[in-house]
Order: sequence, then structure tokens, then C-alpha cells
Amino acid sequence: MILIITGTPGTGKSTVAKLFSERYGFKLIEVNRFAPAAAVGYDAERESVEVDVDKLFEKIKSPASGDVVIEGHLAHLLPFSNATVVVLRCSPEVLRARLRKKGFVERKIQENLEAEALDVCLIESLEVHRNVYEVDTSELKPEEVVERIERILTGKGEEFKPGKIDWSEEFFAP
Ligand SMILES: Nc1ncnc2c1ncn2[C@@H]1O[C@H](COP(=O)(O)OP(=O)(O)OP(=O)(O)O)[C@@H](O)[C@H]1O
Ligand SMILES: [Mg+2]
Repeated sequence: MILIITGTPGTGKSTVAKLFSERYGFKLIEVNRFAPAAAVGYDAERESVEVDVDKLFEKIKSPASGDVVIEGHLAHLLPFSNATVVVLRCSPEVLRARLRKKGFVERKIQENLEAEALDVCLIESLEVHRNVYEVDTSELKPEEVVERIERILTGKGEEFKPGKIDWSEEFFAP
């Protein structure tokens, strides 16, 4: 089984994926570790490495065997045909606090809050995958997020089908 955990930075992908992999014995693949090997340049404006998704997929395809959880903000771009994708979501106020704690500069925080409010990861996920779910982590502990992912993987994830989460009012007209 392939589980992809994606989301805007700070939504809790790494924390949740590690916990999930330990609890359920899934192999953990952190996409960011493979990014340097798939880098094609550096985007100075965004201060981030530009990654070739085909190259990234080539690198991750074979290690991704058996039960595996693949996490990272690019993970949903990998065209695995039978993956279940969980997009972690977080309200603007809580996300701001989490990113501050992670030491992000204000400009980066703003960029990420905007991406979250515009549903970027969700929309991209729906362009690539059929089995896409979203979990609002704002008021949950990591363990509670893991429990919801377990529900999704066992066919009890109806309430996590996309379309219910909308931060636009909070973000654009607070
Ligand atoms: N319900 C939750 N799920 C996950 N993380 C949570 C939750 N509540 C609080 N947190 C905290 O939020 C932070 C999330 O950071 P984490 O590094 O896991 O995010 P990330 O999505 O992997 O970010 P990045 O894209 O920058 O790697 C951690 O400090 C974690 O303890
Ligand atoms: Mg992370």
C-alpha cells in the first residue's frame, strides 16, 4: 500500500508520517531527502531548489515497495497509480504559529499561509490522484491525525473527502 502525506509546510507531514510509520510498520520515505538528487536549479526568488518531478519519481519508485508512507510537500506530484493521498490542512492562525516556531521568516510564513488558503496542495493532488482526502490538523494532536489516517485507509474516511475545508474567509477577509 502506498500512502502519500502532503500539505503546506507546517501542517505536520513529517511528524505525522513518522508516527504513522512507527505505529503501523510502514516504511518511511521523506521526499526532501531525494530532492538534491533530482535538483535542476535554484529558484533565487523563492529561495528553494527546483526539482524535476520525473527525476524525483525515478529515484523514489523502487524504494517505494511494500507498505510505504511517502511524505513531503512535493510527494503528491509523484504519479504513483494506486496511492492514497492525505493532504494535511491547517487554519491560518495555527499555521502561522507553527511556522514561527519552526523559525520561518515572516515573508515565507505569508507565502505559505497564502498557498494553504488557496488549497494549492489539494488542487495539485486532485490533478494527479484519484484517492485524495484532507484532514484538518488545526485542533488535533499528531496521534489524532494518525488515527484519522488509519480510518481513511480502512475505508472509513468518507468525512475526509475533499471540499469541506475553506480558509478563504479567515485568510482574505479576517
Ligand atoms: N496535529 C498535528 N499534527 C502534526 N503536527 C502538529 C500537530 N499539532 C501540532 N503540530 C506541530 O506542528 C509542527 C509541524 O511540523 P512538521 O515539521 O511535522 O511539519 P511539516 O509539514 O513536515 O513541515 P515542512 O514542510 O516544513 O517539512 C511540529 O512542531 C508539530 O509538533
Ligand atoms: Mg517536514
